[in-house]
Amino acid sequence: ASTLGAAAAEKGRYFGAAVAANHLGESDYAATLDREFNSVTPENEMKWDAVERTRNSFTFGSADQIVSHAQGKGMKVRGHTLVWHSQLPGWVGGLAAGDLRSAMNNHITKVMQHYQGRIAAWDVVNEAFQDGNSGARRSSPFQDKIGNGFIEEAFRTARAADPAAKLCYNDYNTDGQNAKSNAVYAMVRDFKARGVPIDCVGFQSHFNSQSPVPGDYQQNLQRFADLGVDVQITELDIEGSGTAQADSYRRVVQACLAVSRCTGITVWGVTDKYSWRASGTPLLFDNNYGKKAAYTSVLSALGGT
Ligand code: G3I
Repeated sequence: ASTLGAAAAEKGRYFGAAVAANHLGESDYAATLDREFNSVTPENEMKWDAVERTRNSFTFGSADQIVSHAQGKGMKVRGHTLVWHSQLPGWVGGLAAGDLRSAMNNHITKVMQHYQGRIAAWDVVNEAFQDGNSGARRSSPFQDKIGNGFIEEAFRTARAADPAAKLCYNDYNTDGQNAKSNAVYAMVRDFKARGVPIDCVGFQSHFNSQSPVPGDYQQNLQRFADLGVDVQITELDIEGSGTAQADSYRRVVQACLAVSRCTGITVWGVTDKYSWRASGTPLLFDNNYGKKAAYTSVLSALGGT
């Protein structure tokens, strides 16, 4: 195979990219996306502030544009994200507990039903744990007002809204074994033990020199998979350039391929030109859509040429 998506497919995986609706009209952007990737994640268009800026008034225009594009090309779509503390409209934080719970469940239900049957996996809850050694939950309107049970409630609501979609918990700094990933692990183990619906765990995998690919990355993916969930690399990008960057990318691909329940990899953007890391070069295609050393390394790790 000579593209990322086709090479990944030969290994039973998908290879995706985060996509922004406002770039789909740029011909090099669309051509690169369509040629190389077989899964997309809307980078911002499905977030709460994009789809429900005003309570119970839903606007799906930009997200629909991405989903239609993907469907037209036979690509999978990852839904990102239903319940997150960031990119949350002000009105949500202003609600009292009971009302907030209804608003959360209404949001999950309406958004998932709009896309019923068209989303392979949803990031139901994103980034609910703190960084550092506490293993504690992060403060957010959901955590602070509804309490620890908000995650379980979100997953139960999500299962009822679209029983066909895989339901994921997604976070960063959980890529190796540490206090934060241990806390997520304990939650997933508890969910599986009690029959709370969860199908997958997303490992964002935003790496840089301060936070490189962990030595125990594969081992950490494997311990989650051993709980009976799929694992996915959901927002991969790696700061740097040249051989060092290419080697790190190769290690990530090899780790996923070594874990049978690692079902796919998504890079957090098509091109360095539009990376969320403003001045960085963390992706597989350069500003002119040229293939970087990291691209060649990923393709070859996937078994392509
Ligand atoms: O759409 C507005 C535009 O109307 C406005 O004029 C402009 C001025 O700042 O801002 C635009 O919104 C920006 C938005 O991206 C769309 O481009 C926001 O300021 C900007 O903060 C936002 O950044 C996004 C970030 O999440 C927000 O938290 C990044 O694009 C997106 O890549 C990033 O993605 C997150 C994942 O969702 C979760 N994991 C971490 C990852 C990286 O931070």
